[in-house]
This record gives sequence, C-alpha cells and structure tokens, in this order.
Amino acid sequence: CGIIGYTGPRPTAEVLLRGLERLEYRGYDSAGLAILDGGVVRAVKVVGRVERLKERVAVEGPAGGLAGIGHTRWATHGEPSERNAHPHLDCYQRIAVVHNGILENHGELRRWLESEGHRFRSETDTEVLAHLVEHAFEGDLEEAVRAALQRVEGSYAVAVVAAHDPDAVVAARHESPLVVGLGKGENWVASDIPTLSTFTGNMLVLEDGEVASIHPDRVRVRTLDGRGVERPIFRVEWQAERSLKGAFDDYMLKEIHEQPEALGRLLEPLRGPGAPGRAPLGRGARNGSRTLPNGRGTSEAQVAGLRWLPELPTNVDEVWFVACGTAYHAARLAASYTDELADLPSRAELASEFRYGQPRVGPRSLVVVISQSGETADTLGALREAQRLGAPTVAVVNVEGSTIGREADQVLPLRAGDEIAVASTKAFTAQVVAGLLLALRLGQARGVLRPERSGGILEGLRLLPEQVAAMLAVQEARMQELATRWRDRRDLFFIGRGRDLAVAMEGQLKLKEISYLHAEALAGGELKHGTLSLITEGVPVVGLATQPDLAVKMAGNLQETRSRGAEVLVVVGPEAEGVTELAFMSVVLPQGVDPLLRPVLAVVPLQLLAYAVAKGRGLDVDKPRNLAKSVTVE
Ligand code: G6P
Repeated sequence: CGIIGYTGPRPTAEVLLRGLERLEYRGYDSAGLAILDGGVVRAVKVVGRVERLKERVAVEGPAGGLAGIGHTRWATHGEPSERNAHPHLDCYQRIAVVHNGILENHGELRRWLESEGHRFRSETDTEVLAHLVEHAFEGDLEEAVRAALQRVEGSYAVAVVAAHDPDAVVAARHESPLVVGLGKGENWVASDIPTLSTFTGNMLVLEDGEVASIHPDRVRVRTLDGRGVERPIFRVEWQAERSLKGAFDDYMLKEIHEQPEALGRLLEPLRGPGAPGRAPLGRGARNGSRTLPNGRGTSEAQVAGLRWLPELPTNVDEVWFVACGTAYHAARLAASYTDELADLPSRAELASEFRYGQPRVGPRSLVVVISQSGETADTLGALREAQRLGAPTVAVVNVEGSTIGREADQVLPLRAGDEIAVASTKAFTAQVVAGLLLALRLGQARGVLRPERSGGILEGLRLLPEQVAAMLAVQEARMQELATRWRDRRDLFFIGRGRDLAVAMEGQLKLKEISYLHAEALAGGELKHGTLSLITEGVPVVGLATQPDLAVKMAGNLQETRSRGAEVLVVVGPEAEGVTELAFMSVVLPQGVDPLLRPVLAVVPLQLLAYAVAKGRGLDVDKPRNLAKSVTVE
C-alpha cells in the first residue's frame, strides 16, 4: 500500500491525488483520502484505481482544507471494498488513519476495543488504530498516536489527521518506509522518495519507532516514548512529472522498447571513448561508515575499466543473491555468473525463504539483494537479516534513494529509468547485466579471471544494447502472430536448462501475471518426471536452448514434447539450429554472442509474447488483477 499526507496552502485534494498516482505501484485495489475541512473529517473512498477516486473527488469534493491524508491499497486483511478502503475513521468520525503494513495483534485489540464500546465498520487491521487513537486521545494528537502505537505489534507506516488539529498530520513508522518532504510553509509525508521528489528536494527519512508531528511551518520528530530526535535533511534532485506513455499503448510496451536505452545507460562507462563516466557509486547512507573487508585486487579491478562499480570484498567464501519475483530470476543468473567468473560458490534464494530459513551466512558471505523498487518488504527483511548476521551487503536497485539502497553497505544503481508497468521488463535485463558486471568485478578483484575472458565479455556488453534493439525490431510482429494463435490456450510450458531455466521462469511469470493463462516453467531434465503427462496435442511449449553445452540435451527434451504433439517455439543459439526443425516457430540468436549474455537477448521475445497475448485477450497489461508493482508487506 502507499500513503501520502500533506499540510499547507495548496489545494489538498489535488496534492494527495497527484501523490497517489505515483504511489499506485504499491497497490490499486482501492483508494481513498480524508481532508480536514472546516472542523470535520471528510473522507472519500473508492474500489479500484486512483483514476476513479479522482473522478469521485471532482464530483463530491472535498477540495479545500488545510491538511489531508491519502491511501492506495493492496488488500491483505479484508476484500477490496469501499468499506475496507482507507482512510479508516474512529466512532465519531473525527480521526482518520491511513496505514501500510500488517498489525499482527489486531484481533486481540479489536476484541478489547469492542468490549469498551467501539463499533467497527470494516474487516481491516487498520481500523483498530483509528479506535486506539480515539481511545487514547486527551487533546494532543501526537501523544494519542504514540500511546496507540505502543500497543500494536507488527509493521506499520501510518499517517493520522484529527478534526481538532486542522493543520496537523502525525506520521509514524515501524518496518514500513516513510519519508517527510520539507517545503516552505508546507510539508508532506509519503511512502517513498520518488513521490515526494515531484514536490520538493528536501527530505527527512524517518527511522523505525519514530513519530513526526507535521505542520505547515514545522516538523518535529520524536521516538515512541517521547524523546526528541534530530534527523539530518536528505537532499534529492527535484524531479519533474514522470514520463508519459507517448506513442505506446501501454507502459509495458514502452518499457520493453526502452531496453536498449536502459542498458546503454547502465553500460555507459564501457561504451565508446566519448561515453561520459559515471559519478562514483555511493555507499548506503545508513551504514556509510562501515568499512568492508577488502583484500587484494584493487589494481586488478582497475585493469578493464570496472572501477566505477562498487568495490567488493574479496575475502569471502561464497555469494548469495536474494530477491523476489522477476528480480529472483535475475538473481539466479547473477549467481551463475559469480560462480563461473569469480570462482565462488554462489546461490540465489527467494527473499521470503532466506529471511526465515535461518540462512547460514556470516562475515565471509557476500549477500547481494536485487530489487527494482528497493522497497519490497521481504527483500528488505532479508537484507536486514544478512546484516544482523554480519554479512557484507550490496544492493542492486533501480529506484535511487529507496530503503534497500540506503540500508545496504554498497549500492549499484540500475539506471533503467522509471518502470511503471507491474510486469518488470527493462529492470530485469538491467539486473542481469548488473549481475554480470558484479561477477566480473569480483573475479578481477580476486585475481581469478583471465584478462582475455573479461575482455571478451566486456566487448560483448558494449554491443548488447544494439543487439537488443535488433531483436525487438525483428521479433515484435512474429510474437504478435504467435500470440494470436496461442492466446486462448489454457496451459503453456516453458522449458530450459541451466541459465535457460532462469529465462524460462521469467518467460512464464511474464505470461501468467498479465494474461491470466496458466504457465509453468521447468528444467528440461525434469519433464519426464511428471509434467510430460500434461503435454498433449497442440499444447504450447516454449523451449530455450541458448547454452551451447546443453543444446543437445534440450533438443532431446523438446523432441519428447513434439512426439506428444506439442506446438513448440524455440529460442536457440546459432550453433543449435538443428533444434529449429522441431519447432513451429524459432528465434535464433545472432552469431558471436557469449553464452553469458544470451539470456538478455532470449528473454526479449518472451516479453513480447506475454505482452501480445495479454493485449489480445483485452486485458490491462500495466495493472494486472491482484498484483502490485511493489509488495511492501510480507
Ligand atoms: C512484485 C512485482 C514483480 C516484482 C517483485 C519484486 O511482485 O509484481 O514484478 O518482480 O515484486 O519487486 P522488486 O521491486 O523487489 O524488484
């Protein structure tokens, strides 16, 4: 969920709605706002998108008011409905609360509040907070919020307004991000920095257990038990409104087509003599003073122009890549790269499994977390767990200034630009390339990488953006054609081995998240252990065989599906052209591309296919049902 609050002279509803549009990536099941208008709290809520809320506010108001809060929801407790949408109000409708997170003891608190005479209107955990604040209220809103929060367990970022204090917003956080934006005679609070950066460049990042009392002319931060806190001002570049879809029908299609440009930006220091260098990479702000264990290798690392990358600790015995969703597929590839190029045992782990799986990591384990948004709750939890266990950490994030980027010891920004569509595309290919760059850097620093090998890969990286552009140009119409044929099939299977398995997993995720067709990815060798029973006449199969050493094995697996009547699309390397005979349609990668780089090219037709299938089914490709761009609850 995303939250925003504002106090100041601008039309409050307009500010809140603008903020909510930017926060919609955190959920769009329902949306709402509450404004303090002439001594009363006026709330408007809708099921669905911020766009609907905008329409309702235009008709019903409220427009004015000195302060207000807004929310865009991704349902956890209680179905998406107007009743369950935030803000939630107390019994007298004088206090309104928006919340991101999960209150674990809400059941117990609700029973107690009901026994005290409080009447609940929704099924949400959040409504408990509105009643708790009401219960504790004795004239001072901040005090009441602090008292209420002392009784709750779980994670929260909250913003509260109350009728008796018409220009105040009280905000607090625990394990869910919250940032205060500072203006002249006006202030904001929101779930993330990019949202605030459309309003102001001066911010103050709240830490866990802190409460901010925000008025137009002052912001005061205290701990939950009332001690004053000095928070430094954090400066970010003021950003104009985000880019529009332009000539494209959807953000997803635009972002698929932006991949050459995004990769070009990430690889800028390597490409061409005229390519401007990049600013040195920052360390995480919070742990900035922590020095990483750093062995030999700095001079080796400088050999092939990789010094713009974070300096990685060399005295480690293993590397873990931890992420969720699409980023996890990039993590699998990144682990294969560090394993091979840095000669270190490497593995990818799902963040939700890592954080509760008692991972055996320590000071000699390098933990790299990968996250487009830098806000995913499970990935953030995993990062904190790794730090608690003493592991050096690196974050690969797209959103600069995000919580994960700030908290990791080192950060490698992807520079892919805003990614708005829920289905990740340009961030994925940038994450894969970032993983490869980190592996090269680590391999060089450890002195285990031959210069010819790294030189060859770097040369390949320089050419990659143009090769992606060529792939887009050739495959878009072909995938459109295939989508027309496949769009009403029920189940689709994606098969690959090794690195191709990661690409297969990403291809099936893209397809199912936006087309709502069932898709499954599996290792080629596993087919015969169960799933082959589902392969019958006309079942679509996408086979990936881009890795030369595994191509023959994959050909065997695809033959198994063909003999059961499957309709096969293959994506293959040039040396595996034999496999194309089995296929209904094939995509052959260009000559001379290093196998390590092939996943970046191989995923492009799969992105185009998923897009075309969803579009052909008449669906909203940018905002698929039940999903959010960034899941900020675990
Ligand atoms: C959500 C999105 C996915 C994304 C995943 C991880 O589930 O719908 O597209 O891959 O979160 O997001 P992150 O921002 O951490 O990369």
